[in-house]
Amino acid sequence: MSGFTVQNVSKIYDGDLPTTTLQNINLQVRDGEFLCILGPSGCGKSTLLELLAGLQAPTEGEILLDDVPVKGPTRQSGVVFQDASLYPWRNIAQNVGLGLEIGGMNKAERQELVHKYLNMVGLEGFGSKYPHHLSGGMRQRAGIARALVGSPKILLMDEPFGAVDHLTRLQLQQDLLRIWQEEQKTVVFVTHDVSEAVFLADRIVLLSPRPGRIHHIFEVREERPRKREDAGLLKIQNDIYSAIYDVKTEEDLEFTI
Ligand SMILES: Nc1ncnc2c1ncn2[C@@H]1O[C@H](COP(=O)(O)OP(=O)(O)OP(=O)(O)O)[C@@H](O)[C@H]1O
Ligand SMILES: [Mg+2]
Repeated sequence: MSGFTVQNVSKIYDGDLPTTTLQNINLQVRDGEFLCILGPSGCGKSTLLELLAGLQAPTEGEILLDDVPVKGPTRQSGVVFQDASLYPWRNIAQNVGLGLEIGGMNKAERQELVHKYLNMVGLEGFGSKYPHHLSGGMRQRAGIARALVGSPKILLMDEPFGAVDHLTRLQLQQDLLRIWQEEQKTVVFVTHDVSEAVFLADRIVLLSPRPGRIHHIFEVREERPRKREDAGLLKIQNDIYSAIYDVKTEEDLEFTI
């Protein structure tokens, strides 16, 4: 089957007190879909994303990408982290083109691709600037360009807009949707923001904490382009809050989003 297949995956971190961070996760990520992973702090969202990215291995179970076991990072996935993690001593173009440089691509081809993706994320003209010259939102845009430049078919994004102000965040969401549609990527997007998930996603995987399990998967079938105040979206948002509230009362857990 194409896309990610997560089969009976658990992740236990060793230590003085081994903790089960993820327990028995089963999930199919469909080709081309925008999937959000939603849940409170500490429920294992980043861990699940790192497993998909091949940056960590599951303790139990298996993750397949297009039927092939994920054994490490692959060129098919581009990762965007919460802080853009740019190298301060390289300018924006050099940061975005780093993977291509390591891959041995010649300078002219590299510059063309870097230029294309800087334009796509709205950073045309900023290639020669250094990360400290840019706002937080612009650094996130650079992080997205860096993930896109190797033409991965999947974007794995870990709370990429968590550290930017609200208005910038709304704009970045719009721009990401445009890129997702233009480039026909599969996106797995981690967030703890219910309204962000509802606005962006085709499906929302709600995780419950300690250990992280799939509580419920919500389908968001509203037409695109979406309006944030759309009644259908608000209904799903309320359903998600109810589900979160259920978890809290059932298990008396701190489940604040
Ligand atoms: N490398 C690690 N070693 C040990 N424990 C870890 C490690 N990484 C994560 N954990 C534990 O696993 C749990 C889930 O962490 P994770 O970072 O996946 O949560 P999260 O949902 O991304 O949280 P947040 O919303 O705060 O980013 C936490 O209890 C954390 O302490
Ligand atoms: Mg996290």
